[in-house]
Amino acid sequence: MKVLVTGGTGYIGSHTCCELLDRGYEVVIIDNLSNSKKEVVSKIEQITGKKVKFYLGDVRDKELLRKIFKENEINFVIHFAGYKAVGESVLNPLMYYENNLLSTINLCEVMKEFDCKNLVFSSSATVYGIPKKLPLKEDFSLAATNPYGQTKLMIENILKDLYASDNSWNIVILRYFNPIGAHASGLIGEEPNGIPNNLMPYIVKVANKELPFLNIFGNDYDTVDGTGVRDYIHVVDLAIGHVLSIEKINKDKGIFIYNLGTGHGYSVLELVNTFSKVNNIEVNYRIVDRRPGDVAECYADTKKATIELGFKAQKTIDDMCRDSYKYVINNK
Ligand code: NAD
Ligand code: UD1
Repeated sequence: MKVLVTGGTGYIGSHTCCELLDRGYEVVIIDNLSNSKKEVVSKIEQITGKKVKFYLGDVRDKELLRKIFKENEINFVIHFAGYKAVGESVLNPLMYYENNLLSTINLCEVMKEFDCKNLVFSSSATVYGIPKKLPLKEDFSLAATNPYGQTKLMIENILKDLYASDNSWNIVILRYFNPIGAHASGLIGEEPNGIPNNLMPYIVKVANKELPFLNIFGNDYDTVDGTGVRDYIHVVDLAIGHVLSIEKINKDKGIFIYNLGTGHGYSVLELVNTFSKVNNIEVNYRIVDRRPGDVAECYADTKKATIELGFKAQKTIDDMCRDSYKYVINNK
């Protein structure tokens, strides 16, 4: 079975390629390297001992997509490629709509031309908007609070319409909660450009003395210790969720939507303290104002993924903290 992984040299894509290769799938990657490096391909090969076919290019380029489908008999596509920074999407919405929507539309058009109609799509918990009730279930109402979230919501709707028009498509929409951690080898991990927006990449830079302290955005939320609570999931568990999704549409036909999280929330302070404990390193922080747009708590109801996919996150918050830091130390 051959899987085309768009954005396969990125953070979640690279871990997913490893899990696919470990289970005997062949992997073809397309990535324009706008947010990743070519070396990731050889790291994936080093980890798995398997070869990967890499195409440098853009998913918006239909001619390149056609070439890939002509040269490879693709059975499944996992579509990670896209931009993902919320703040940047507010400043430059057109860039987000252009890349995220066009890449998906072009990809689906070419998949249809080649009669490859098995797709797994990276959505996000951001499509739940401001949670009214927790834990978040897949059938809760959806809303977008920024252009990035809007692109995810629009793509979910495009895929639902596509399936309604032609139910020979098999589609899995995965709503990720907060992926952190890295491969246990320390060879691949998350490498954001510039000053990170998300919590774990910021913590590792503080631990590494690249930034002086972490700004904790508010300690007056109605949570366990006043700081924001999120459902952190180890990226390797998340990656396995993609393999299970492929297995799902290989046996059951239709369109399916799943949350991928652990179902447990941890506060910012709990994460910082765990990170300090398992890595035996100080993380300096100060409390600052709340970040506009943040919610107090966000965590998944994971029952549907457990029952229908057989998905259950295995890694602990200690594993997540240890592996995130290991990658940074290995790649200093
Ligand atoms: P990432 O930036 O590490 O990976 C995305 C990859 O896609 C990068 O390698 C980038 O170079 C590539 N890319 C972007 N646009 C492209 C294009 N037009 N053509 C070819 N390649 C392109 O991001 P990630 O964290 O691995 O996220 C993967 C997907 O998961 C994204 O769609 C993101 O929105 C979604 N997601 C991520 C998170 C998270 O916290 N990381 C949470 C929810 C959803
Ligand atoms: C962010 C995105 C969301 C995306 C998710 C996963 C925003 C507003 N939302 O959500 O759309 O789906 O990432 O990629 O950007 N925190 C600090 N200090 C920091 C960074 C974060 O205290 O320097 C806190 C936040 O207030 C929050 C928690 O840490 O309580 C997690 O933040 P973050 O990693 O940015 O993820 P989300 O806010 O869940």
